[in-house]
Amino acid sequence: MHARVAAAMATAVLGTVALLLPVPDARAGIALRPLVIAHRGASALAPENTLEAVDEAAALGIRWVENDVQRTKDSELVVIHDDSLRRTTDAEAVFPGRAPWKVRDFTAAEIARLDAGSWFGAAYAGARVPMLEEYVDRVERNHQKLLLEIKNPELYPGIEQQTLKLLSNEGWLDVRHLADRLIVQSFSVDCLRIVHASKPGVRTGLLGVPAVADLHRYTDFADMINPSYASLSEEYVSAVHALTGPHGTPMEVFAWTVDDAATARTVAGYGVDGIITDKPEVVRRALYRY
Ligand code: G3P
Ligand code: CA
Repeated sequence: MHARVAAAMATAVLGTVALLLPVPDARAGIALRPLVIAHRGASALAPENTLEAVDEAAALGIRWVENDVQRTKDSELVVIHDDSLRRTTDAEAVFPGRAPWKVRDFTAAEIARLDAGSWFGAAYAGARVPMLEEYVDRVERNHQKLLLEIKNPELYPGIEQQTLKLLSNEGWLDVRHLADRLIVQSFSVDCLRIVHASKPGVRTGLLGVPAVADLHRYTDFADMINPSYASLSEEYVSAVHALTGPHGTPMEVFAWTVDDAATARTVAGYGVDGIITDKPEVVRRALYRY
């Protein structure tokens, strides 16, 4: 039985509040739906988009992590959410004359000098902005799976091809990874079109909440629609599920960013396939017996 069907039946029988399923055995790779995805790593517990946040998720037994990829002045791919270094590093102190501290205005060597952990807590002083290469290597080493967001692609022409090349070089575009360990997402339709045209085997997710009447426009290149949970309804999820994506399977829905148990149960009741959260342990506890 398809996991989504099983989850829907459980919901129907038990009601949304009682959707307490046995937790999947992470080591065996068995995954019930909805998946629990650690947003920017376990970013309520460790500084977002760092190796420490990935490790924190791994320590919790969370298989899926989400991240954000952008590009430096010297064309290196780095993992960071904002287009500026200011919020999540000490760039302002280290490079006082370089406002507004845009990622694209700094070299990888300069960014490597920055502390990306102290803003979050003293225990994380010295955490770095990871290069994408070391980030995917860490995710691999942890036996985790990656929901990779190409962030602000309009600022970085060619970042799609560059990201795919790096993923290929690191072994992330082999059959095993394509089947169940990698999804590339973006708010940009153009970005996803490029990703799909370049590497059709890669699963892709469109961030946002297109009108139901427009969903068919995305079925050629998007395997999933990933909206903010606040925009979601059971009807919307059903409308997405009714469509077939580019790989011949029903389109899916991953909701973000759900950080409390009640909302997790609500969106699980809508039938979403994944829940992206800063607090994966909270969502997991809300949905699964663990
Ligand atoms: O994965 C969904 C979420 O990451 C999209 O929003 O701003 O956190 O990248 P943002
Ligand atoms: Ca993101």
